Amino acid sequence: MKRNGLILWLTGLSGAGKTTIAQRLENKLQEQAYLVELLDGDAIRQNLSQGLSFTKEDRDINVRRIGYVANLLSRNGVIVIVSLISPYRAVRDELRYSTKNFFEIYVNTPIEVCEARDVKGLYAKARNGYIKSFTGIDDPYEEPLNPHITCDTTKETVDESVTKILHWLEGMNQLSGLVIPINSRENLNFSSLKI
Ligand code: ADX
Repeated sequence: MKRNGLILWLTGLSGAGKTTIAQRLENKLQEQAYLVELLDGDAIRQNLSQGLSFTKEDRDINVRRIGYVANLLSRNGVIVIVSLISPYRAVRDELRYSTKNFFEIYVNTPIEVCEARDVKGLYAKARNGYIKSFTGIDDPYEEPLNPHITCDTTKETVDESVTKILHWLEGMNQLSGLVIPINSRENLNFSSLKI
């Protein structure tokens, strides 16, 4: 029987480690033959959300847009990993409570740590005023009040965070029935599809 996939929504500050955790999680799930898709904020802003700014309105549009795509994929059995700052609680909750199998994962890294890492050099630019409305500096980040899972990246390694997420999903029986058996995959004949 076909069942809905999952939406694993990683929220947190820029540089918190969302993408790193998301990519490692994607690899782990793929190794176990799950169908997985990763929707990453930085990548999506280069195509689907190209031209959107970082005002509250545009960030909310970005979140709703990605939520819509995540829904399309997950209703076809895909495990969708979303890696997005998604700083506003209301729009995250809107998706969370209107979407089946939506799990909010808070990648909790304090701003001081993100700023010290400053992988992309954006915090320095925000402090110098070259970038305005930067999340955590002069724009808000509303942390989740009741996330399903929290990854405390100052205490956990990336692998530990990924293992924690996988154990939690297994414990909640969320992964069963999502692997498509290899022989069924071979029977999928995409070349006969008329597009
Ligand atoms: S969201 O707020 O709409 O969810 P999103 O995750 O798509 O943000 O994009 C965040 C990325 O855009 C950051 O990781 C950073 O590389 C870049 N960025 C550029 N300007 C800003 C800004 N003002 N605030 C936050 N991130 C920014």
